[in-house]
Formats: sequence, structure tokens, C-alpha cells
Amino acid sequence: MCGIVAYIGKEQAFPIILKGLKRLEYRGYDSAGIAVLNDDSSLNNYKRSGKVSELEEFAAQHDSTGTVGIGHTRWATHGLPNNINAHPHVSSDGEMALIHNGIIENYDSLREELMSRGYVFKSETDTEVLIHLIDDIKKNEQVKTAEAVRIALNSVIGAYAIVVLSKDNPNQLVAARKSSPLVVGIGKDGAFYLASDATPIIEYTNEVVYMEDEEIAVVDRNDGLRIFSIQDKEKVPYIQRLELKLEAIEKGGYEHFMLKEIHEQPRSIKDCFRGRLNVDEGWVKLGGIKDYESKLAKAKRIIMVACGTSWHAALVGEYLFEDLARIPVEVEYASEFRYRNPIIDEDDIVIAISQSGETADTLAALNLAKSKGATILGICNVVGSSISRITHAGSYTHAGPEIGVASTKAFTAQVTVLTLMALSIARKKGNLDDTKFRRIITELELIPDKVAKILEQSEKHEEISAVYKDARNALYLGRGNSFPVALEGALKLKEISYIHAEGYPAAEMKHGPIALIDEEMPVFVIATKGPSYEKVVSNIQEVKARKGKIIAVITEGDTQVKAIADHYIEIPDTDENLAPLLATIPLQLISYYVAVMRGANVDQPRNLAKSVTVE
Ligand code: AGP
Repeated sequence: MCGIVAYIGKEQAFPIILKGLKRLEYRGYDSAGIAVLNDDSSLNNYKRSGKVSELEEFAAQHDSTGTVGIGHTRWATHGLPNNINAHPHVSSDGEMALIHNGIIENYDSLREELMSRGYVFKSETDTEVLIHLIDDIKKNEQVKTAEAVRIALNSVIGAYAIVVLSKDNPNQLVAARKSSPLVVGIGKDGAFYLASDATPIIEYTNEVVYMEDEEIAVVDRNDGLRIFSIQDKEKVPYIQRLELKLEAIEKGGYEHFMLKEIHEQPRSIKDCFRGRLNVDEGWVKLGGIKDYESKLAKAKRIIMVACGTSWHAALVGEYLFEDLARIPVEVEYASEFRYRNPIIDEDDIVIAISQSGETADTLAALNLAKSKGATILGICNVVGSSISRITHAGSYTHAGPEIGVASTKAFTAQVTVLTLMALSIARKKGNLDDTKFRRIITELELIPDKVAKILEQSEKHEEISAVYKDARNALYLGRGNSFPVALEGALKLKEISYIHAEGYPAAEMKHGPIALIDEEMPVFVIATKGPSYEKVVSNIQEVKARKGKIIAVITEGDTQVKAIADHYIEIPDTDENLAPLLATIPLQLISYYVAVMRGANVDQPRNLAKSVTVE
């Protein structure tokens, strides 16, 4: 977590960095800080707890001029989110400043060592050891900043993306990464931008270098960009062209990114299957994994690893792969899988699902599986992300940037890719007859229009939200592939409105959660037409018998549930394998409206960050 931005060039650095930090605020918003070196060689370091806007207000009263600077927006790991713990951290002599995203695991021993050498620590952060360590090496070994960074990083255990600014070379910034992302933007007239992702860079240049693990980048106004490994081997920078558009990272007239992203789903789902699905010719193909299709078709089992919403998408994937491709799937929380000494071998295929492609646990789970010889595949949204680069192959979701912390369009895009994958493997295995295959792909092509139709009912969603906005608890129930949808609905509600919510398989309710039901309890039930419909109707009756309030997501034309539910939202009929793509939309919308009505910060919910790059 945490977002970092740095600039060196001919323009004023502060406004560029400030704007960049606002774009990266989704990565953490506990505190923010910017250090700028001005023309008189004064290093002005402004830090504020809270949002970037608070830093902006504070710095407006001070000198923030200078053409080189570094900035940080923090998601607190070590130490409270106060001004002192905010980055940048400055060396004891005030000559150098540093920003860091990641965690230094051996910070305790490094700190003790540095304290014994006379360094005084001001903050409670792990990061502060880095600046003192680099300073110590620089002075003792009489080396320049880049070399001191290199030596220092050889004794650091943990994850880092750092940028160091030093008064003794105002023409240079030194950056390094391991496990936390860092992108270098190559601007005009010798300008360079460094950032945790490309969003702060895109309006200045589309030429970028995605740094690899254990690389150091030196950007210099006179000498340009040079990249070294931390073993000191110079490398040729691999420059890539960004396809990201500025409009994609702006709100485009919506009040919140989350609402914009919910409404983008007809387009994002279409973008996801564009060129991968042809209904007239009757084929599905995923170019990114074509070399692994035979292996997938022969697989005895597939393991899916993910966290949060992406884990819910993996659960939907389990139903799809088992039903269509008849391959057993195990869905694992990446954080549990990596520490469980899992049994994996060369025959296994591990698929990681991650919007950001940077989630630390998912990345570590994949690395573990790779080290045991498994084939590792990725389903990521962010192009060029760490997961997409370490996997043997994969498929992008093409949902476009997702800025709201609550994942919405990424989920439906992940489910779309998983559907395409399951369909193509099923065909390869010969498990899926023509009629069923054609029916599913025909229905899949209609999903964007059907999502659009649900989105037209925003007033109805708002009305329901107004009724339950003050609820303290909520239950979400579903069966079969609606169970992950229930989990996802509950996660959406709790993360942005802070209402306690639980997702359950509907039949499991009577084994405990039913005790919670009274006339105050809203129970959201996914009761669309499908094999479990009648069973779900019985579960609804059980809730009604205890005076619980039923908000049902039903298939258009349903009369049975309509008659017994307190509220209902109708969604268009579709193939049962595709139902999660539609049933999830009303739950996203209701969570959104409830959060807005409660005055919550929808796009930046408390304690959360979009990209969880710490374990
Ligand atoms: C969901 O709304 C959250 N943002 C969170 O659960 C998220 O899905 C999780 O942190 C995984 O992120 P990833 O998809 O980027 O790996």
C-alpha cells in the first residue's frame, strides 16, 4: 500500500507531485507528505496526517518551489497515522529525504544497530531505518547516493519501492524496488516521473519503464535514465508505451469513482470479451493462454488463489470450471495458501486472480507455486503489474482503471474471463456440446445490455437503500454460484458503509445465523431462477417466519418470491452459469447508495487501501 510520486525536470515539482498523490490516494490516505528542493538548496518537507487535500492546504502557506521533489500518501503499517510518521523521512543532517512503499521486515535489528551508532529515531516507522542506513553508508564508505542505496538494500529484508532525494545532487533522484511497484515515466526535455502506478504519469508521457524487483533506477537531468541491479549490473531500460487514457482515471461527471465504475460495466464486460468471443462463428479464445490450453484441458486439478473480491470471483470460477470443463478446482485465500506448506507439483496449474496484480499475498502464493514447479497463470486488470509479469501466461480483464477502493467492474470482468476460460477448456476437452456452448456464448454476448437494463433501475435501488440505511447488520444469502455473489454483496456493504454484513450459503443459515434474525434484520437473498430456486424460496420462508426483512434479487417475471419478499429487484433472465454477472449489480448499487446516505467516504473507506502490497 502507500503511493509514491517523484518528479525531476524543468517544471515546478510540487503541483505535479500533489496531483499525482491525489491519483494514488486509493493506495492509502492516512497521511501525505512532499519534500521539494528549491533553487537555494533548501529541502522543504511538508507532511500532514489525513488526506492529500490537508497537505495541500498546509503547504499553500509555505514555500513549495523547486523542480525536484518526492511525495507520499500513506497507509499506516508501523506507527500511528500522524505528522511525524508521515513520509518523506529526512536524514539527521537534513541532507537527504526518502519515500517508501512496503515493509522493512528486519527494521528492528537495523534500528538497534543504527541507534548504537548514534542515530536518533523520530518516528515509529520501519521506513526511517532506510534513510539513516543510506546516510550512514554514504558517510562511512564515502560513496554517492546511488551506491549507498545499493549497498543498503543488500542488507534489507522486506518489500520496498523507494525514491531518495539528496541535496548534494539536485539533478538526480535514486529509486529502487522489490515487491512494491514502481514505474518510471520518461518525459520531455529531460523530465522524469516516478510513481507507484502509471496514473500520475499518463498526462505527461506515455513512455514508461516498469521497474523489476531488485533494480535501482537513477534519473538524472543531465545523464538521463540508468538502471542497475542491486548486485551492481547495469541493465538496458525496457521502455513501454502506455495505452491508458486520461479520461479513464477521471470521474467523468459521476459523483464517485465507484458509481462511475458500476455504470461502466456494460462497457467493461464487452471490452473483456471483445475479440475473444464470436457468436456467429461459434468460438471462444483467449490468446494469452493459448499455449497452455492443452495443459489446462489435461489438468487433474486447478488451484485458484486470490484475496477479497477476487477470491469471490475465483469461487464463481470454481462453479464454471467444474460445471463446464469438469476440472476440480480448489479456491484458496492466498494468505493462507502461502503459509500452509501446500502440496503442489509440476502437474498443477495455479491461477491467480487480482485486479491490481500487486496484492502481496497473491504474489507470494504464486511465487511459492512457481518454485514448486507448478504452471502459474494470471487474471489481472492492471497491465504490466507484478503478477502479470511473473506468471507463465495469463489473460487481462481489460476493465480499465478501477479507482474506487470497493471493487465492482473488476469483479464482473474477472468472472467474464473465467467464463471464457472455462468455455474454451470445456470445448477443448470435448465436454460441452454445441447446443449448450452456443446457448451460453449467445447469452454472454447479451450480458452487457442486460447489465445496462439493471442500471436503469437506480431509483428502485435508492428507495430500498433508504429503508435499510440505518441497519446495524445484514445477511446475504445465495446458493450454488449465487453464494459467492452473496459474499461479494456482504463485502461491498461492510467495506463502504461500515454495516456489519455476512454472506452465507442460504441453507447454512439454519445452522447458526438464523439466531440473528428478527424484525430489524435485512436479509438480501439471491433468488434467481435456477436449480436451487425452490430451495431458496423455502429459505426465504424461514426468514419470514422469524420476521426478517427480505430484499430479493429475482428473475424478471417471477411471481412467487415477488409475493413474499418485502422488496425485490428484477434482473433479466440468463443462462444459470452467467447469473452472477447480473445478480451482483443490484448488490453493488445498494451498497453504494446506503454508503452515500450514511455520509461515508465511498471511494476511500476508512482503514482500507486499494492495492494491498503488505501481507
Ligand atoms: C474489494 O472491494 C476490495 N477492494 C478487496 O477485497 C480486493 O478485492 C482485494 O484486496 C484483492 O485485491 P486485488 O484484486 O487487487 O488482488
